[in-house]
Amino acid sequence: MQLSIIGSGHVGLVSGLCFAEKGHTVLCVDHDAAKIKKLKAGKVTFHEPHMQELLTKHIAAKTISFSTDTKDAVDFGAAIFVCVSTPSMPDGNVDMRYFEAVSRDIAEHISEYRVIVEKSTVPIKTSSHMRANIERYLTREVDFDVASNPEFLREGQAIDDTLNPDRIVCGVTSHKAARVMQEVYAPFTAPLLMTTIQSAELIKLASNAFLATRLSFINAISRICELGGANIQEVAEGMGLDKRIGKHFLSAGIGYGGSCFPKDVSGMYHVSKALGYDFELLGEVQRVNEDQWQHFLARLEDTLWVLNGKTIALWGLAFKPDTDDIREAPALKIANALIAKGAKVVGYDPAANENAKGEVPDIHTVESALEACKDADALMICTEWSEFADVDLAEVKSALRVPVIFDGRNQLDPDTVKAAGFHSVSVGR
Ligand code: UGA
Repeated sequence: MQLSIIGSGHVGLVSGLCFAEKGHTVLCVDHDAAKIKKLKAGKVTFHEPHMQELLTKHIAAKTISFSTDTKDAVDFGAAIFVCVSTPSMPDGNVDMRYFEAVSRDIAEHISEYRVIVEKSTVPIKTSSHMRANIERYLTREVDFDVASNPEFLREGQAIDDTLNPDRIVCGVTSHKAARVMQEVYAPFTAPLLMTTIQSAELIKLASNAFLATRLSFINAISRICELGGANIQEVAEGMGLDKRIGKHFLSAGIGYGGSCFPKDVSGMYHVSKALGYDFELLGEVQRVNEDQWQHFLARLEDTLWVLNGKTIALWGLAFKPDTDDIREAPALKIANALIAKGAKVVGYDPAANENAKGEVPDIHTVESALEACKDADALMICTEWSEFADVDLAEVKSALRVPVIFDGRNQLDPDTVKAAGFHSVSVGR
C-alpha cells in the first residue's frame, strides 16, 4: 500500500520507517528542506535506537522516499498521516497552526479519495475542524475522510513500540475509511480498536494524562517516604504487585519531561476547561511534577550550604535515557537554577550534549561521565542512562573534590554508594 507522511519528526519519521518495515511503500514530507536533504542522504535527524538501520535499509529498497512538497504527499498515499507538531502556547493551550496549514495544503491538491489521518496528539474535536477547513478550501469536488490514529510510541523505544504496539486505535466516520485503516494495519498483530474520532482523540490525551498522574502520584508518595522513613522502591514494589495497579511506570524521580507529558497534561486541562469541565486534578499533577526537581535541588543546597562558586557535575541531560531530546528535561531546569545561583555546571550526556548546549549556553559539556566529575563538589544523576550504572565508584570518588552523590533517578544502590564512602542522597529512600 502507498502511504504518505506529512511532518517527518519523531512521530512521522518513525511511523514512516515502521510502515515500510511492515511492507508498505512510504513517502515522507517535511517543509524543512535541510531535514529532507539529510534524510535523502540516508542520515537520521535525531537519536533513536535502530532508526539508522531502518533508514539505510528502506532507502536502498526504495520503500521510503522524501520530499518537501505537500502536493507529492497528497498525490502519493491512499492514507495521508499528518504528524506535524502541535506545540503548547504560552497560556497552555495547543497551537494548531501547523495542522490548519496542512489541511489547507491538502484541500488545494487533493484530486481523488484520500483518508487524512491525524497522528499527532491533538485536542478533541480537531477532526471536525480539519474536515470543515478542507471543505472550505477545496477547489474541486472530491470525496475524502478524516480519521484519527493516535501514536503511543515512547522516545528511546520508538521503533519497537511502533512495530509491536500494545494496541492500535483508529477513529473513523465511514466504512470506506475503516477499510483503508484495516489495510494499513493488516501486517500488525496488535488488537485494533475502531472508535469514533472523538474517542480516538481522547484515548491518546487521556492515556498520557493518566500516566503523568501516576508519576506525580508516586513522586508525591516518595515525599511521604522521605518524611516518614519509608523506602519508595519497596512501596512501589508492594503497590505494583496488585494486578490492578501493575508495576510499570512507578519509578519516582525528579519528575517527567519530554515533548509529550508536559504539553498533553496542560493541553488536556485547557481542552477540558473549554468544554466546560474544570480538571483541577491535572493542575495538581503539574504542580507536583515541578516541585519534584525543585525539592531535590533544595536538598542539594541544604547539603552544600552555599551553591555560589561550587562546581556541580550533572550526568544525563536528555529528558530520559536513549534519546537526545532535551525538551522539558528536568536536568536542564536544574542546570539553569544552579547557574542562576552562581554554580558552575559540568554536564555529560551520551547523546544530548550538543542539544543541551544549544538550550543552556552556560553549561560546560564534556565527553565522559568521569570527566564531568573532575573537581566537582557534588554529582547529580538526572537521567538514568545505563552506562552510569557501570561507572567505577572508586574512580568517581577520586575525581570529585568531595564525595557527594545526588541520585535523582534512584539508579544506584544507596548501600553500595554509601559503602564506597559517599554522602548519598536519592529520591524517597
Ligand atoms: C510518552 C508516552 O509514554 C507514550 O505512550 C506517548 O506516545 C508519548 O508520550 C507521546 O505522547 O508521544 P515519552 O514522552 O517518549 O512517551 O516518554 P516516557 O517513557 O513515557 O517518559 C516520560 C517521562 O516520564 C520521562 O521524563 C521519564 O523519565 C519519566 N518517567 C517515566 C518517570 O519519571 N518514571 C517512570 O516510572 C517512567
